[in-house]
Amino acid sequence: MERFGVTFLVTGVVTFLLGFFLQGLMPVLTMRKVPIRTVQEVAASVPAEFYQLAEDYPVEFQKSFGTPDPTSFAKAIQQGRDIYISEACWHCHSQFVRPVANENLRFGPVSQPNEYQNEMMLPHLFGTRRVGPDLIRESGKRSNDWQVAHLYDPRSVAPYSVMPSYTWFFDKDKRPTDRALAVVAYLQWLGSWVKDGVVTEPGLPAAGGQG
Ligand code: HEC
Repeated sequence: MERFGVTFLVTGVVTFLLGFFLQGLMPVLTMRKVPIRTVQEVAASVPAEFYQLAEDYPVEFQKSFGTPDPTSFAKAIQQGRDIYISEACWHCHSQFVRPVANENLRFGPVSQPNEYQNEMMLPHLFGTRRVGPDLIRESGKRSNDWQVAHLYDPRSVAPYSVMPSYTWFFDKDKRPTDRALAVVAYLQWLGSWVKDGVVTEPGLPAAGGQG
């Protein structure tokens, strides 16, 4: 009995150390040298939709973000991402095109690791289930107006949608507040680095193929 006790103790300690090394230290050691782009670097490339947003909702945009430039864009997408998290949009939407089941035909090019190497993707929002479509290639898929109408009342543009209305993103005159504009800026940012099937990286302009 005495000998078993010692064996269990040694096994337990070794297993703990192994687990600590593999799951605690290894990720830190291997990820340490991976460059992580800052939000400012990511926001250096402002998609056309953000300038368009300033024209679509001039008064509201001016009040929320001032003029459209990399600084206001950084502020908008960070706020949009925070709202996306706090409103649990991730509960119904994934942000990852998997290399299976012809997902690329439905959503666009398969996701690549370098797309997630930036502060905007920490924590990553891969998601776990898809009640709604994947959103990592949402940029440019819909107009700003569509996105705004959809947030206020999804059924107005997608009749059978089960997505909730986010009326609290709007004021009493049904005009978009900074929350609606931030979420739309964020949605139009998701995948703005992809063009004509060519994936670059957040912060770099979309390269695109010929035509
Ligand atoms: C209860 C699940 C649910 C939640 C929560 C949810 N959605 Fe959706 N969403 C859906 C469904 C279902 C659709 C597909 C039908 C439609 O277009 O409304 C959808 C569609 C969308 C689309 C359109 C995608 C496209 O181009 O076809 C966007 C953008 C979107 N959601 C954003 C959001 C945002 C932002 C939030 C959080 C503020 C959110 N969703 C929360 C279920 C959800």
